[in-house]
Amino acid sequence: MKKLGILLSGRGSNFEALADSVDAGRINAEIAIVISNKPNAQGLERARERGFEAECIPSRGFGREEYDRQVVQRLKEKCVDLVCLAGFMRLVSAYFVGEFPERILNIHPSLLPSFPGLDAQHQALEHGVKFSGCTVHFVDENLDAGPILIQAAVPILDNDTEESLSARILSQEHRIYTEAINLVVDDKIRIEGRRVVRTL
Ligand code: GRF
Repeated sequence: MKKLGILLSGRGSNFEALADSVDAGRINAEIAIVISNKPNAQGLERARERGFEAECIPSRGFGREEYDRQVVQRLKEKCVDLVCLAGFMRLVSAYFVGEFPERILNIHPSLLPSFPGLDAQHQALEHGVKFSGCTVHFVDENLDAGPILIQAAVPILDNDTEESLSARILSQEHRIYTEAINLVVDDKIRIEGRRVVRTL
């Protein structure tokens, strides 16, 4: 059984959706460890309540690679095959990417390459696009930039607020992250340049 390592910084609803999928047998893998860079992340608490090994590796005061070395060490100790960033609010270093090549995923609340970075839902509303959505992509050392695995689009309604749009996107995030992880753990895709294509 493949092992997942989940990295988060906050609420942890994507982690919970993944944990639900694992529990229900919808993901062919197990969660080996949950790591937060923030000691008071709600997701960390939730993970502990659910009986997962969950720990904080505080990022404060560490350089990017210096921090990533600690995280990578823990992930390797737990024999993690696939790293899933789930609201992990840090850029990862080239070192981290090199230690888990094509084995780090992220979920972002926009249709990349539109609206990378913080407050993607706010950016979409401000820009006036009629559709936004979410993206699961492989992680490289650039921000929200690696090859795209799955996207889901949602409409933007005239009366949408940041909250209502975020909620519509979030329910799709919870759905496609499970799908994306399965594509990787079941070896159903390969990366050709920037394109992720099905192997079967
Ligand atoms: C999600 O919108 C995700 O796309 C983004 O950060 C948010 C995390 O939410 N990367 P949660 O902590 O999973 O609830």
